[in-house]
Amino acid sequence: MSSSNMKIITVIGSGLIGRSWAMVFASGGYSVKLYDNQPGQAANAITEMKKQMTELQEVGMLRGHLSATQQLALLSSHDDLQQALRGAFFVQECVFENLEVKQNVFREVERLVGEDVILSSSTSCLVPSAVFSLVRNRSRCLVSHPVNPPYYVKLVELVPHPETLAAIMDSTYSLMTEVGQVPVRLRKEIDGFTINRVQAAIIAESWRLVQDGIISVQDIDLVMSEGLGMRYAFIGPMETMHLNAPEGLGDYMKRYGEGVQRVLRSFGPVPDFFAEDAKSVVNEMCELIPNDEQHLSARRERRDRLLMGLARLKKDN
Ligand SMILES: NC(=O)c1ccc[n+]([C@@H]2O[C@H](COP(=O)([O-])OP(=O)(O)OC[C@H]3O[C@@H](n4cnc5c(N)ncnc54)[C@H](O)[C@@H]3O)[C@@H](O)[C@H]2O)c1
Repeated sequence: MSSSNMKIITVIGSGLIGRSWAMVFASGGYSVKLYDNQPGQAANAITEMKKQMTELQEVGMLRGHLSATQQLALLSSHDDLQQALRGAFFVQECVFENLEVKQNVFREVERLVGEDVILSSSTSCLVPSAVFSLVRNRSRCLVSHPVNPPYYVKLVELVPHPETLAAIMDSTYSLMTEVGQVPVRLRKEIDGFTINRVQAAIIAESWRLVQDGIISVQDIDLVMSEGLGMRYAFIGPMETMHLNAPEGLGDYMKRYGEGVQRVLRSFGPVPDFFAEDAKSVVNEMCELIPNDEQHLSARRERRDRLLMGLARLKKDN
């Protein structure tokens, strides 16, 4: 790999996640070639990103050391995959969450790039051994699963294929750190990775508590936003326990471990999200926030504004 190749990253798919990844990589000074198989889509995405980056600069939230104009100059749009891949050392795939589509994209990409190019997927729910099953050299493949939107939420799970080389995990870890993300490594693949497994546990118990009539939809959300979530933005569940007993985690378990196990044993089965009575949970949510475009957009805008504020707070601490 020549040094001139070291600065080009290809992002495949210019939807929500592809755009955000492109902005993250450009903020780190990388040239980003954005490709989409819908003609004109990648170019439209860059027009949108230009608007967003200018606004971010105005409010002092543009990431990286370069100006919006300098970062925009690093972005290019492509309707031709071969052209988009030329010179890249790293490929971040962000196409639809469909196994067959992803498998075919990577088969095609492998045909067009050298052996040492790292192939990375943004998939949320598909394990690397499935996503890369049509790739011949799987030692350079991994999943880099972001949290939406990666521009504001920096965590990225790095999940290896069983054949992925340690050096590929290390290079991707360094790249993600360099562009300001916060990577975590999984040692092996598992369904749901870690973010979605923890999230599923929270969803399941929240759903059961509402469906069993213990608490309202509004109040279970407050349990998180005004309770647990207040500290989880800064310290995780392990450190929370470590700090909550005079002598740390071991002491916490001596004091509270049995209680935690008793509660865990009382958890119900996996909720049936599609049953007739599940509709009442959905209805209760829709009474709070109607599910029309106007209300949902307003709440999404609020969420993104608050996330931006939180990102600023985390940056300063
Ligand atoms: N949205 C999220 O919250 C989120 C979070 C983490 C990870 N992800 C993952 O990121 C990936 C992308 O999700 P998204 O929300 O950006 O989807 P999206 O629907 O917004 O965008 C997908 C883009 O891929 C393009 N595309 C589809 N097939 C293609 C192909 N064969 N070649 C090139 N481009 C193609 C589409 O035209 C579209 O622009 C998915 O795997 C998803 O699971 C999404």
